[in-house]
Amino acid sequence: MKSIIFDVDTGIDDALAMAYALHSPELEILGFTTCFGNVPVEDATRNTLAVLEKLNRHIPVFSGAGQTLNRGEKKEYPKHVHGEDGLGNTLEGAPTLQASQGHAVDFIIEQVKSRPDEITIIAVGPLTNIALAIKKDPEIMSLVKEVIIMGGAVKVQGNVNPYAEANIICDPDAADLVLSSGLPVTLVGLDVTMQTCLPKSKLDEWRATGKESAQFLAEMTDYYMKAYDSSHPGLGGCALHDPLAVGVAINSDLVRTESMNIKVVTEGEETGRTIGQPDSESGIRVCTEVDAARFVKHFLERVIRS
Ligand code: BDR
Ligand code: CA
Repeated sequence: MKSIIFDVDTGIDDALAMAYALHSPELEILGFTTCFGNVPVEDATRNTLAVLEKLNRHIPVFSGAGQTLNRGEKKEYPKHVHGEDGLGNTLEGAPTLQASQGHAVDFIIEQVKSRPDEITIIAVGPLTNIALAIKKDPEIMSLVKEVIIMGGAVKVQGNVNPYAEANIICDPDAADLVLSSGLPVTLVGLDVTMQTCLPKSKLDEWRATGKESAQFLAEMTDYYMKAYDSSHPGLGGCALHDPLAVGVAINSDLVRTESMNIKVVTEGEETGRTIGQPDSESGIRVCTEVDAARFVKHFLERVIRS
């Protein structure tokens, strides 16, 4: 079993990734850490707690970075993709679960130091919490087992603009710090996540289960799919960005990787771009191919608990 710290900016596909991970016996989730990104950090924490509550799971949630490393607060949030509340406007009142005391960055440092070479971090939001953890205690870099990051667009176009992927452009300085730190990273970027598709028809199957949690996930994913209808007409569903990072944590052979060093552009028009150069010495493995059909099948077997 892999011991996981799951860093999220919950978000609809983050919620799907949470459900997939929480229903996967291969993963032991020690805690969730939250970051601004799809929504402000307070909402990311609330949404993470709300998803846990719907799934009836009690796992610690630590609130983390509310702003970028060097550029202050994010100005606008992608409400057209994730809704006013970040969960496709499905939230009805605040969850009763409470966040844990303490900061996400301290939780990451403490867990990594107490379990050397055992912890895998799955990061599916901006990389600010991990960057802050490295800055606060650089020793953790040699103690983390693996970091699986949903982020970047190395050989393909971005999704915010032609260059940048959303998680990286939210905090390019944090991404640059993490991706040049020497941490053992698997980069699950748009190169592979855009090859995955959750078809619309699956939402009716989820609803038909009659389960409240399935209804909740179907309603929010319906909102996400409507955003995809405008941005990717003809796709007939949505990409499964954050869930693929979980899939790779469970089955690394879902993807083929290439060893590269990655430079993140931090200035000018191309800010947020992830430029990869082949480098057999690099600790970064960039996912460049995915068995999308096998992944989507596995995700669908797990996301709704039978
Ligand atoms: C990433 O950006 C966010 O909108 C999603 O949650 C995902 O982590 C995709 O580019
Ligand atoms: Ca996310």
